[in-house]
Amino acid sequence: MCQPDPIFELNHVSHQFGTFQALTDINLKIFAGECVALVGSSGAGKSTLIRLLNGTLRPTEGEVWALGRNLNQLSSRQLQQVQRGIGTVYQQFHLVDNLRVIHNVNAGHLGRWSFWRALRSLIHPLEVETAAKALAQVGIPEKLYARTDQLSGGQQQRVALARVLVQDPLAILADEPIASLDPESSREIMDLLLRLTNENSRTLVVSLHALEFARSHCQRIVGLRQGQIVFDAPAEQATREMLEAVYRLERKEWMSETVKEEKEK
Ligand SMILES: Nc1ncnc2c1ncn2[C@@H]1O[C@H](COP(=O)(O)OP(=O)(O)OP(=O)(O)O)[C@@H](O)[C@H]1O
Ligand SMILES: [Mg+2]
Repeated sequence: MCQPDPIFELNHVSHQFGTFQALTDINLKIFAGECVALVGSSGAGKSTLIRLLNGTLRPTEGEVWALGRNLNQLSSRQLQQVQRGIGTVYQQFHLVDNLRVIHNVNAGHLGRWSFWRALRSLIHPLEVETAAKALAQVGIPEKLYARTDQLSGGQQQRVALARVLVQDPLAILADEPIASLDPESSREIMDLLLRLTNENSRTLVVSLHALEFARSHCQRIVGLRQGQIVFDAPAEQATREMLEAVYRLERKEWMSETVKEEKEK
């Protein structure tokens, strides 16, 4: 049987910020319909990897392919076209606080709308029905005209998801979508994310600190440590020990560094 083309493919990808090596020799293929969790402690490179996948960051080495295109070889207009097919949900929501919810949801159209159409919509909202439908899907239909900064964290995360629904992408990238939420809201948002992904056979890549959600909600788990992939396994094969090792090893290294520094003082 022939293997389908991957939705995302990274070939020998490394990324440096100045002299700091954030990712080293990453090789990864993600196929249509997969739900992949990225796990790893703070600074492991999860957000950097997500930014490489959506083309907002170019690798210093290697190739990133998304939706069948080599991102390194695209003009900015071609890159924008590919980016329309990739919806990103950020940890800090990336919403404009002092706007009404409808405008933040309508931001999902920005890749398609002209500048003038976007401006017109800010004065008199366009596509109200589409926005209302998306808000209903994420469970807060009554908040269409609420001011975004008057919503709770969980509700703001739902607005960010509604914006992605309006964008209607083939793939969703979610960077720690539950990091600032309580356990109950975390479960609701993860359930919602999974439902929205499954309903339209979308692909989901989600970075998570909460290992229990990585195991309960994703089929595949990729573990990152200090910018490298240390495991890539089906969720049912990723044991708690394997997952915790990603964090434990870093803590051990950090502790031995700290002890060394203390001794040197
Ligand atoms: N713009 C930047 N300039 C310099 N270094 C950066 C920049 N962005 C990230 N880094 C560094 O790259 C490494 C990986 O960062 P990244 O944000 O990808 O980690 P992460 O796994 O998402 O961490 P967290 O769980 O805290 O969000 C970190 O050491 C970070 O300090
Ligand atoms: Mg991050």
